[in-house]
Amino acid sequence: MIRTAAYTRDLLPASLSSDGDAAAFVHRFQFVEDIARDWFRRYGFQEIRTPIFERTELFARGVGAETDIVTKEMYTWRDRAGDDGEGESLTLRPENTAPVVRAYIQHQMWKRAETVRLYYIGPQFRRERGQRGRYRQFFQIGAETLGVGDHPVLDVEGIELVMGILADAGLRNLELRLNTVGDAETRARFVAAIQQALADRREELSDDSRRRLETNPLRILDSKAEQDQPLIATLPPIYDFLDDDCRAHFDAVRRYLDAAGIAYVVDARLVRGLDYYTKTVFEVVSHAPGIGAQNALAGGGRYDGLVETLGGPPTKGFGFALGVDRVVLAMPEDGAPEARPDVFIVHLGEAAFERALSVARDARRAGFAAMLDVTPRSIKSALRLANKLGARYALLLGETELATGQWTLRDLIRGEQFAVPADAWLQYISRNDET
Ligand code: HAM
Repeated sequence: MIRTAAYTRDLLPASLSSDGDAAAFVHRFQFVEDIARDWFRRYGFQEIRTPIFERTELFARGVGAETDIVTKEMYTWRDRAGDDGEGESLTLRPENTAPVVRAYIQHQMWKRAETVRLYYIGPQFRRERGQRGRYRQFFQIGAETLGVGDHPVLDVEGIELVMGILADAGLRNLELRLNTVGDAETRARFVAAIQQALADRREELSDDSRRRLETNPLRILDSKAEQDQPLIATLPPIYDFLDDDCRAHFDAVRRYLDAAGIAYVVDARLVRGLDYYTKTVFEVVSHAPGIGAQNALAGGGRYDGLVETLGGPPTKGFGFALGVDRVVLAMPEDGAPEARPDVFIVHLGEAAFERALSVARDARRAGFAAMLDVTPRSIKSALRLANKLGARYALLLGETELATGQWTLRDLIRGEQFAVPADAWLQYISRNDET
């Protein structure tokens, strides 16, 4: 048997799942996506669909050549030489901010709108060590705001959106962590201070942190290694290095969050694993039972230099991405309704079967989910199946019904049964999701 590749999985209809793992039920993913699309509509975001693969250079330059994502986790290959793109290096997207920024530049979107608001829903790929909540193909819902302005309200609107989606998905026990990483200059000063503070104690650092001292010192702050903790505790907070502009921005973001009634904790060690951030960074973690170690549901922040880094004009940016797989893991068991048929059509006898076909077609054209079983069965077994599928009604068509022109309609929830005129039966039913 050929199985899915390591740490990838099938998302299935609940009724076809062999292990009953609700974390992989496709209707739970759809539920979150529908909620997100509606929130994006309310905030004026439009959808963008970028390719699943891009030129490798985009991520190396965009996400950062020294990040874990770029050094260890990308699926990269050299394309076969051909007429187009002679043997170039391509990569499955590990995230979608760099692709959206590429599209912003490629299509010169700044000429069409002062503020561009785009969202995306789709798979991303990272070659990580898999565990509960961490997969090599995972799904993100994300949004990016690009334009001339960097008003702190844009940051707060993005955060509001994430919190709105998560709340509507039924998630509780959430914690919003907020920090600032300053701009390029304040960060350079901070990094120099970290390097200076740790220079004499590098032998005490974990292997990862010792390497990062050269390549990406900021990341030492979010090291989980025990031995790094006493050293990290001695480092000055980044706030000591902020200039007036970065400080004012951070203060304003907090003020607008307070005004919006959104609770948060300031986490001085939050730096995020992608290099493009400036000023605001945030993460939402879940404390839901059963979520496990991978409890970051969403993350994002401001990236005011990324458009220029990738060859565009000076532009400000803010965005976030939410991990749908993890949201689904943290959702309550019964948190998302699965689609059920509105009506199950039971036919008894050959003539009734022919008629049932057109009856089902009429119901579907009128917008109802109508199930018609082609296997002949007894009424009892047909009703058992209708109940199993969660149908709201059963419509019974047999010889008597054909002769009288009255169908027998059974309300499977109320357990009532009555005769309805064959030419107007649709008026007697309502949709499953409306009851
Ligand atoms: P990120 O923090 O790398 O940010 O990913 C965002 C979310 O994707 C995480 O919080 C997590 O829920 C989910 N995620 C990441 N890796 C995995 C995985 N291997 N398995 C399951 N879920 C995962 C970004 O990707 C940025 N592009 C966000 C952003 C947008 N910043 C600005 N704009």
